[in-house]
Amino acid sequence: MTGLAPRSTHAVRVELGPRSYDALTGVDLLSRLGELAAAALAKPTQGGRTGAPGRAVLVVDDALPAHIATRAAASLRAAGYDVTSVPARAHEDDKSLAALERLLAAVAGAKLERGEPIVALGGGIVGDVAGFAAASYRRGVPVVQCPTTLLAMVDASVGGKTGVNLRTGDGVLKKNMVGAFHQPSLVVADVSTLESLPPRTLRAGLAECIKHGLLAGDWKDPGLFEWIEANVAALMSGDRALLAELVARNVAIKARVVAGDEREEADDAAGGRALLNLGHTFGHALETMPGLEVSTGPGPMHHGEAVALGLVAASRCAQQLGLAPPGLADRVVRVLTAAGLPTSVRGLPPTDTVLAAMAHDKKTLGGRLRLILPVGGWRCKVVADPPAGAVRAAVESIGA
Ligand SMILES: NC(=O)c1ccc[n+]([C@@H]2O[C@H](COP(=O)([O-])OP(=O)(O)OC[C@H]3O[C@@H](n4cnc5c(N)ncnc54)[C@H](O)[C@@H]3O)[C@@H](O)[C@H]2O)c1
Repeated sequence: MTGLAPRSTHAVRVELGPRSYDALTGVDLLSRLGELAAAALAKPTQGGRTGAPGRAVLVVDDALPAHIATRAAASLRAAGYDVTSVPARAHEDDKSLAALERLLAAVAGAKLERGEPIVALGGGIVGDVAGFAAASYRRGVPVVQCPTTLLAMVDASVGGKTGVNLRTGDGVLKKNMVGAFHQPSLVVADVSTLESLPPRTLRAGLAECIKHGLLAGDWKDPGLFEWIEANVAALMSGDRALLAELVARNVAIKARVVAGDEREEADDAAGGRALLNLGHTFGHALETMPGLEVSTGPGPMHHGEAVALGLVAASRCAQQLGLAPPGLADRVVRVLTAAGLPTSVRGLPPTDTVLAAMAHDKKTLGGRLRLILPVGGWRCKVVADPPAGAVRAAVESIGA
């Protein structure tokens, strides 16, 4: 790691050879963003590291309280950066080629040069668009990811996937259809920023952590699920130290997965990055369906809520196939409930409609359904062509 991280900071090294970087998690880290970024971006030379900070474009989620953006910008300026702030709206409709073009124009207006960073401050949407801008502007400038949602901290900011949605000619929004792999140079997750997050959005992020808990046995943290079970109430009440530990443990898992399979190319036997899609084949299918209602709040389901339902369906499916130990699905339901996440949904269309939507998921290869299912020992595996009856029963089991 850079050696600059404050003592109370958790530092995870994402090992990707020449593209390796640190993912730092802690409290009030944004106050040190400038010096941390300058150290991470300095070029190694024979005598040490060099490279004075130049310009930086700070892309700011416009829903953030002003003090967060002010703190980040002030820290960058104090470290010598000439900062241009650009606001960005975090809505899936604004995760678009039009928004990318506007951002690139602003970056060009700021006269950013090769080697000078785009700094993304916000949730996964801002991180994905800003990351893609960094991947494409002048064929690549560095990006520093400063995630401000739990989901972005434990998932989106680490691993280098960037991109935007595409609306096709028939008006359908294809999520993350255009993008690039572009690893950040540094990730700075300041858990104090989570304090302004709407509680429902915080809970949605916890669904991804519970998902990691179900597969962490393969990634050196077999105790994660039980640790979340034991601490879920304190986490939801905003305990900063526990949130920092939660983020750091989840980042460590994501870092290990990504280090082993940077571009999601591992085969089914190895699993690799695809295992992170646990719960997502069920979840993505539900996300595309209008009129579904969950008890945790009005309006469209959050992604994490759909993942929560997917985890319930996947664990029930795995249990029915004799892959997961008895009782696992009940534990999953209990921890999700304690986290305020849904475990059933009203308004589910006929099961065949859900199954058809699942068959369109990107994890389907050559028309064969591939599910990620828990197998016990806090491990998961890819199951190709799972028996239709078990999948059907799993879908039906989450209908309220
Ligand atoms: N690149 C990847 O590997 C990856 C992985 C998972 C998800 N994603 C993408 O991430 C996106 C979802 O990310 P998300 O869940 O962070 O949602 P988001 O970016 O939409 O943020 C959720 C909401 O919270 C607001 N917000 C963000 N931080 C805040 C804060 N600290 N205080 C108050 N409000 C705040 C945002 O303005 C937004 O309204 C999706 O587009 C998804 O495709 C990418």
